Amino acid sequence: MTTATETSYKNLLLDRRDTTAILTINRPDKLNALNNETMAELACALTGLERDQEIRGIIITGSGEKAFIAGADINELAVLTPIAGSAHARHGQAVLQQIEDMPKLVVAAINGFCLGGGMELALACHCRVATPNAMLGLPEVTLGIIPGYGGTQRLPRIVGKGRALELIATGKMINAEEAHRIGLVNQIAGEGQSAVEAALELLNPPKSKAVGPVAVAMAIKAVNTGMSLPLSDALDYETQLFGLLATTADMKEGMTAFIEKRGAAFRGE
Ligand code: COA
Repeated sequence: MTTATETSYKNLLLDRRDTTAILTINRPDKLNALNNETMAELACALTGLERDQEIRGIIITGSGEKAFIAGADINELAVLTPIAGSAHARHGQAVLQQIEDMPKLVVAAINGFCLGGGMELALACHCRVATPNAMLGLPEVTLGIIPGYGGTQRLPRIVGKGRALELIATGKMINAEEAHRIGLVNQIAGEGQSAVEAALELLNPPKSKAVGPVAVAMAIKAVNTGMSLPLSDALDYETQLFGLLATTADMKEGMTAFIEKRGAAFRGE
């Protein structure tokens, strides 16, 4: 059987480091702009990675030194009609929703320009790490459009309405330091460290601090679902997931390992 990490793509590279998959958008001569073909490949790769039991975390990054992703492919946007434009946005949103709903932690490793659809993809990831030279922004208004892959909705939920509108309505870029200051980026990679190396560190804590895969999946579900519910319903949902986790072998292993003063060996069951 071919696993998710063995399939080959035209515009994507898929590598694995132990239990982490590294998905690299690979159109460096176009600054990794997201064309329709790349989005379709991304959807396919994400579906495979969701099913792959051996993969516990995913890193998404861009090929080359210059860019993470410089946006949706403007050549394809330029010819959209109103009906095709809505369909384009709907499809883009669906692919990015796959990232947000992924039951394993997805980290955007931002190495350079992170613009437009690229920034929206990073916003759909659960965490973002960036190199010090990264530049982030939603320049869509400079093209006479608005972000259509969820950027107008996810950015205010991450950095607040005022800061989001400043970025969305001016189209300006900010550097990694400013993005970190406003909570858009979780971490800046250390001196001489690549964004992928920083993301690998985030996803792979020392063995003594191993995390339970089922617990991580439930945590993502609790946060994602709860954010769109009234607080009392969200709290109720949390209690249900908490109760469900008490049925898992991972919970027994985590608790037993603590009592026996050893690192937990979670099996994701
Ligand atoms: N869509 C399609 N092609 C893109 C692209 C995009 N979003 N971003 C960059 N490219 C292409 C350029 O057209 C160029 O291709 P070419 O060599 O065939 O002409 C190549 O990538 C290199 O880009 P270039 O503009 O020459 O690099 P630069 O260093 O001068 O500028 C940017 C870098 C990121 C400032 C500039 O490319 C840019 O503004 N890109 C568009 C950003 C944007 O508006 N994104 C939102 C889209 S919704």
